[in-house]
Amino acid sequence: MHIIFAASECLPYAKTGGLADVIDALPREIVRQGHKVTVYLPFYRQAQAKVKEKDRKVAIRSLTIPFSYYNRFVSVIDGGIHAGVQIYFIDSPELFDREYMYATPSGDYADNWERFALYCRAVLEASKQLGVPDIFHVHDWQASMLPVYLRSVYYYDPMLRNVGTVLTVHNAAVQGVFAPDTTERLLLPRDMFTSERLEFYGGFDFLKGGIVYSDAVTTVSPRYAEEIQTPEHGNRLDGVFLSRRADLHGILNGVDYETWDPAVDGNIAAHYTPQNLEGKAACRRDLLHAFGLERVPDDAPVLGVVARFATQKGFDLLAEIADQLASQDIRLIVVGAGEPYYENLFKTLMERYPDNIAVRVGYDETLAHKVEAGSDMFLMPSHYEPGGLGQIYGLKYGTVPAVRATGGLDDTVEEWDAATGQGTGFKFAGESGAEFFATIERAVTVFQGDKEAWRKLMLNGMAKDFSWTEPAKKYIALYEDVAKRRS
Ligand code: ADP
Ligand code: GLC
Repeated sequence: MHIIFAASECLPYAKTGGLADVIDALPREIVRQGHKVTVYLPFYRQAQAKVKEKDRKVAIRSLTIPFSYYNRFVSVIDGGIHAGVQIYFIDSPELFDREYMYATPSGDYADNWERFALYCRAVLEASKQLGVPDIFHVHDWQASMLPVYLRSVYYYDPMLRNVGTVLTVHNAAVQGVFAPDTTERLLLPRDMFTSERLEFYGGFDFLKGGIVYSDAVTTVSPRYAEEIQTPEHGNRLDGVFLSRRADLHGILNGVDYETWDPAVDGNIAAHYTPQNLEGKAACRRDLLHAFGLERVPDDAPVLGVVARFATQKGFDLLAEIADQLASQDIRLIVVGAGEPYYENLFKTLMERYPDNIAVRVGYDETLAHKVEAGSDMFLMPSHYEPGGLGQIYGLKYGTVPAVRATGGLDDTVEEWDAATGQGTGFKFAGESGAEFFATIERAVTVFQGDKEAWRKLMLNGMAKDFSWTEPAKKYIALYEDVAKRRS
């Protein structure tokens, strides 16, 4: 089979979160399992910086993308084949050659509807010249107009009409909702702007369109697949998800152990394995040094955080307990970037507790690896978490996760049970700082009080296999099922 991935992020070209990790690693595994994968990405400034001028072959000089009273023209750049995966870039300098990918510090780009609708239509058009797939696998709201176009204005296209579509929802809270006249601007039939199709509380909802018009819908953990069918986590699309229940699947994310494994990681101070954990102490020293935290006793736990600064991640709970944490012999190390509110919050905490809390604001790949390797515990108190990769990395690095029991966090972390010696981390279900603090305390009690138990806990996590092999098989089975239904 040939699968085209349409997504707004992919390592190493463009990343704000875990989507980029997934779009890098999953296609490679699908190729390894014998299929052909092509990835199309917007040619953002960030992506341009990763592709040398001499390596930019023009695959298509000009494609016409019509809007309501004007045309735009894009070209397609051949980014080459990497680990068997073909990369193409949709080049539209006026829409993608910008400082940021989606938003400036003062808010979203106002023309995001146009940027990502253009991207979707360009992928359809490009595929007709560069290779029609069996399946378009589209991701999140940014790629959701692809199935919408395909089943409406492209309905009679003899080249595309039998191609199947799969949408993966990586975050149901971010839907791409725009003004109602987006329907006309995108040249879509007026009767698509109804509550069964694209209309969402008066707005035009890209993600809703993707859910309604794709042949199958997946999300990145079984637990989140259930949660989004409820009012609590459905973000007002729970009814729409429910109506697609028969075609809705939770396929747990994998991780790329070629990059995220302390036995081979090129970003950390020393390598280590379950058989020989010695290197982890060197990683811990290196991390503390990098953050200017010196003379930290071995039994003072180091708590790590690497995340987008967004409300989703539950940092209000961390802020609530910061005073309590800092009153103990604990070190908190945070790497993150995103909403200015949280950047300021963490900077203030660091100024208040310079001996206990160290924060690096910014996107820093190397530091992210150092935190995963050098911390004793990895914190993810997310209010919701479709999949979550940080905690899975933590498991592999013997960095015990303390997480809120939601979505993929609940599916990947098992509560430690001292009586049986089973379990890989610590979880809490509620929404209070007190519960989060109690969870960290449970972890610290084992860490400081029972070295053997802690070692077992680390090894239990390190033994887990969250590689892409099994999830990729599930996606391939789904592609085959959808392709059969379409033929
Ligand atoms: P989300 O996709 O919601 O941000 P995930 O846990 O799925 O959450 O993935 C986050 C990914 O982004 C991980 O690979 C993590 O290491 C990385 N990451 C997040 N923030 C930063 C940062 N400031 N610097 C480097 N890497 C980061
Ligand atoms: C989203 C989710 C995260 C998930 C990632 C990759 O950004 O917030 O939980 O791991 O996508 O699927």
